[in-house]
Amino acid sequence: MKEKLPKHIAIIMDGNGRWAKLKNRPRTFGHRKGITVVKDVIEYCCKRGINFLTLFAFSSENWQRPQTEVKALMGFLKKYLASELSWLIELGVRFNVIGNIDRLPQDVRDVALNAMEKTAGQKKMILNLALSYGSKEEIIRAVKKICKDVKDGKINIEDLDEKLFSSYLDTSGQPEPDLLIRTSGEYRISNFLLWQIAYTELFFTNTLWPDFTIEELELAIKEYMKRERRFGKI
Ligand code: IPE
Ligand code: IPE
Ligand code: MG
Repeated sequence: MKEKLPKHIAIIMDGNGRWAKLKNRPRTFGHRKGITVVKDVIEYCCKRGINFLTLFAFSSENWQRPQTEVKALMGFLKKYLASELSWLIELGVRFNVIGNIDRLPQDVRDVALNAMEKTAGQKKMILNLALSYGSKEEIIRAVKKICKDVKDGKINIEDLDEKLFSSYLDTSGQPEPDLLIRTSGEYRISNFLLWQIAYTELFFTNTLWPDFTIEELELAIKEYMKRERRFGKI
């Protein structure tokens, strides 16, 4: 059933703070445990033959959290992107950031750009890490670029269709997610990939992200494979 395997999985990794709270620990304790789960999921997807994995790590709205938490999250990002780079290279993963990378602190942006550059030729799986990502922002950025290209005579308005529009998004050239997973029992999208998930299959679970396991990921994939995708046809 290889052909029915999702090509692209997207995950809203939610629930780190509540997981820590249940254990009477600071929220950062949850983020730290969450990172170990991220590693397991990347490795599994890569070895299972999933071609694209998109992980929501920090949203454009998450900047409004207390500065201490934002700082801690940026610190984790910087540390792990640097320390796990050789592991990503070994796995054959191409690392990519989607989102407003310009808003990231310079040091985090530098390690992210370095990881993108060092893994640019890798082919096993594309890992999109959504950082300072908001779907509405991404769409506005795309519209601005399109307007500029029309003004500069690079494209004609008449040529603008879904395919051309998609090519202006951060996920340019990639297939849309087949399966979107959200943990932590919230039934919402939280400004993630609004355009790209028009026909994506959704899987919600009450599991908090730090407790998410490969067994549950396999369950989500199995359930996905049982679904009939009609795309409006009969
Ligand atoms: C997800 O966990 C990680 C980020 C959004 C950075 P949360 O930090 O949102 O944890 P909860 O949802 O408050 O439990
Ligand atoms: C979504 O989680 C963003 C990430 C997982 C990075 P949030 O915790 O920010 O979402 P809301 O606030 O519950 O919608
Ligand atoms: Mg949350």
